[in-house]
Amino acid sequence: MVCLGNICRSPLAEGIMLKLIEDKALDLVVDSAGTSNYHVGEAPDKRSTANAARHGVDLSPLRARQFKTADFDAFDKIYVMDHSNRQNVLKLARHEADKAKVDLLLNSAFPGEDREVPDPYFGGEQGFEEVFNLVNKACRAIAASLA
Ligand code: 4NP
Repeated sequence: MVCLGNICRSPLAEGIMLKLIEDKALDLVVDSAGTSNYHVGEAPDKRSTANAARHGVDLSPLRARQFKTADFDAFDKIYVMDHSNRQNVLKLARHEADKAKVDLLLNSAFPGEDREVPDPYFGGEQGFEEVFNLVNKACRAIAASLA
């Protein structure tokens, strides 16, 4: 799960997937990262953590890291939140097989629509609720398709 800062959207996607893996006993590994190094080592944004907690998802143990080329080897799928993240991840791809792993997260819930998870960082609380609902829908679709 990849966004820009790895403190708002992608840790939420990781936290929701971790809960689904536990609840549904899925044999999956999930992690998240940011394309930037702006917040490396930091806990998720307080607004994201608070919103997730209201939905029963714990983001408190997560810490931000930067996406790296080795992630193409470690993971079968690279889910990005928006078109900018997608471009930045694709710049690190070494070959077509790397590129083929990359998709917008919301294509899992809205196939072929290329919808973005809006960046809530500079907005208000409502943005975090909208992000939760979109990311939750996509993660549930992924879990259902793999269960
Ligand atoms: P995220 O949100 O990519 O969902 O983690 C952002 C976090 C930080 C910044 C931008 C977006 N920033 O510019 O610092």
